[in-house]
Amino acid sequence: MDHFIQFESKELASKLIEKALLFKKTPLLNREKGTGKRIGLIFLNPSLRTRVSTQIAASNLGMESIVLNMDKEGWALEMADGVIMNKDKVEHIKDAAAVLGQYFDLLAVRAFPSLTNKKEDKEDTIIKQFIKYSGIPVISLESATRHPLQSLADMITIKENRVTEKKPKVVLTWAPHIKAIPHAVANSFTEWALGCDHDLTITHPLGYELDTAFTQCAHIEYDQTKALNNADFVYVKNWSAFNDYGKIIHVDDSWLLTEDSLKHSPTAKVMHCLPVRRNLELSDEILDHSRSLVQQQATNRIFAAQAVLDEFI
Ligand code: CP
Repeated sequence: MDHFIQFESKELASKLIEKALLFKKTPLLNREKGTGKRIGLIFLNPSLRTRVSTQIAASNLGMESIVLNMDKEGWALEMADGVIMNKDKVEHIKDAAAVLGQYFDLLAVRAFPSLTNKKEDKEDTIIKQFIKYSGIPVISLESATRHPLQSLADMITIKENRVTEKKPKVVLTWAPHIKAIPHAVANSFTEWALGCDHDLTITHPLGYELDTAFTQCAHIEYDQTKALNNADFVYVKNWSAFNDYGKIIHVDDSWLLTEDSLKHSPTAKVMHCLPVRRNLELSDEILDHSRSLVQQQATNRIFAAQAVLDEFI
């Protein structure tokens, strides 16, 4: 593995899940493996879980981590090659990434999409520029298209909670939101759930179709009630329109998941990556119920990150 920016194979996913579960039992198992190694955590957008869990993971492995909140503390970066930098951008990614590549052994980058330039977002231009110019392994802390550390933590959580060897029925359901939200978590969850051989159904209102590059092997069901029938795991997430790129077509409150929505899937566990807007995106009654796995997912972010960092040191 040269970088960690997306799902690669079922074998690698299984290896990372097993390793993460081992670290969960014994967090300091490899506490000296990362001695003398340094990771740079570069945030172009806000974070709570990703930032702290990755720092804890690095610490468990004996690595030094340095956080740079590039959006607030760094120079404004020019990402396009060959431009005359006579506007607001102060430093070119070519120079900044090359410097970071000398300071660190590993680089981890969070770079959300613009949701205005579909081509650049779809090509994951920012993280690709960090890869191109840093010359060191890059780990995605959520890019324009994917959030693989979140998805790995989600797969670990499903593994911990599945009760039979039978393929679990996993439903990814769209939820209402008032802001235009990226597709990365939904894309990545789809990629990992299918890659790990789960039985995945995606449900959303008309107009909220995800990029078919991710969903072509999933069942799509526009009727949420039908989709939720007999579900084992329900992953709740909002995303903006992909075809009408970055738009909020409507905020349909009837899609808010409640206990009543789960009456035909009484044992279903509910997942969300957090942060969540309570009673807009997901109800208190679900979040505060024993069926909610959101805190377990957040805990597993540490061990997902630790399993991935361990591959690079
Ligand atoms: N789930 C997740 O990535 O959380 P943060 O945005 O707080 O890092």
